[in-house]
Amino acid sequence: FTLGDKQVQLPRIVATQGNNGHDINKLLAQTGDTTYDQGFSSTASCKSAITFIDGDAGVLQYRGYSIEQLAEKSSFLETAYLVIYGELPTAEQLATFEDRITKNMIIDERMRDFFRCFPRRSHPMPVLAAGIMGLSTFNSETTGLDNDSVEEATTRLLAKVPTLAAYGYKNSIGKPTLYPDHSLNYIENFERMSFGNPAEPYQIDDKITRALEVLLILHADHEQNCSTSTVRLVGSSQANLYASVASGVNALSGPLHGGANQEVLEMLQQIKDSGMSVQEFVDKVKNKESGIKLMGFGHRIYKNYDPRANIIKKHADEVLKLKEGRRDLLDIAQELEQTALNDDYFQSRKLYPNVDFYSGLIYEAMGFPVNMFTVLFAIGRLPGWIAQWREQNNDKSTKIGRPRQVYVGQTHRDFVP
Ligand code: MLT
Repeated sequence: FTLGDKQVQLPRIVATQGNNGHDINKLLAQTGDTTYDQGFSSTASCKSAITFIDGDAGVLQYRGYSIEQLAEKSSFLETAYLVIYGELPTAEQLATFEDRITKNMIIDERMRDFFRCFPRRSHPMPVLAAGIMGLSTFNSETTGLDNDSVEEATTRLLAKVPTLAAYGYKNSIGKPTLYPDHSLNYIENFERMSFGNPAEPYQIDDKITRALEVLLILHADHEQNCSTSTVRLVGSSQANLYASVASGVNALSGPLHGGANQEVLEMLQQIKDSGMSVQEFVDKVKNKESGIKLMGFGHRIYKNYDPRANIIKKHADEVLKLKEGRRDLLDIAQELEQTALNDDYFQSRKLYPNVDFYSGLIYEAMGFPVNMFTVLFAIGRLPGWIAQWREQNNDKSTKIGRPRQVYVGQTHRDFVP
């Protein structure tokens, strides 16, 4: 506009929803635009030093370490330590951390009764969310915002969530619960509490345990997705770690966030049952009018191979060799992936397999029913939720979240009785 004899150009204000894999600040610098999200303390935009994703290149790093290296060399608890505290632990720090966590896996005896109160066959996800809120009442001395309380709450959540998850599962199948066993490590304990029975020793299979551990490492954080930004938003009101994490679990329970691997399994089963070839299915997907989607392909952030999918894929083959899994469905999945990756339709749309494409097949082969898939996701994502909550809690300039609203309702109306 003109001001006196001068032409003045104000920056254009653009509303951004997350960064969609782009460096928003770089884009804004190039276009001269500005965004007001952060000024409004919206959850859409925040600064974080935990997880880096380059969606175009297919890169995922926790605290600067690549997901490939962590999946190959690290344990879940070591990765959790890294995600939460920002540095890899020394051997001594790791031993102390592991000891503290595994010794805390037991839950208050009264909480075992609490589990028995849910109707049999309850979905384990709401039971987990309720269990975490239950934990906050049995551990109320750790619900403060001071460092000591947060440290204790961190330990107790990491330690007890797998136990709650296993108890929710046992309740859903009407089987008795087991105490954690101090001679086992974190992942082995979770497996035993999920699949073991009190009368028999539980046989650990190292390859299966490692595959489960890798899956949890791959899910440990993924920057500002639906559940993580929920944890931050709830935490911004200074709600404690338990309440914020329980909110994350609830956000994850929605099928659009945590349900994709179940949809992949259903899709593979439908292809098998229909008797159609993989190519015929792919042709149907390409025909928009068919309404058929290729589940487990494409991601809001990744315009390349989701690096997590690449890692999982190797384990899928191995686990299905060892377990009575759905080899037939894995064959369909592998053919589907090859067919789509060689097809210009998917290449031009940058649709690649994401983390959910193979994870359901592996979980199922391990013996988990589909209603445990989101629960397993929650166990994996726990370090990320905790780290994100702590990062925000440590930043004393954080304001309570207040997402932006654009009012589209009626303008002023007179009330005439
Ligand atoms: C996740 O890991 O949370 C999912 O891939 C969803 C996302 O990050 O958008």
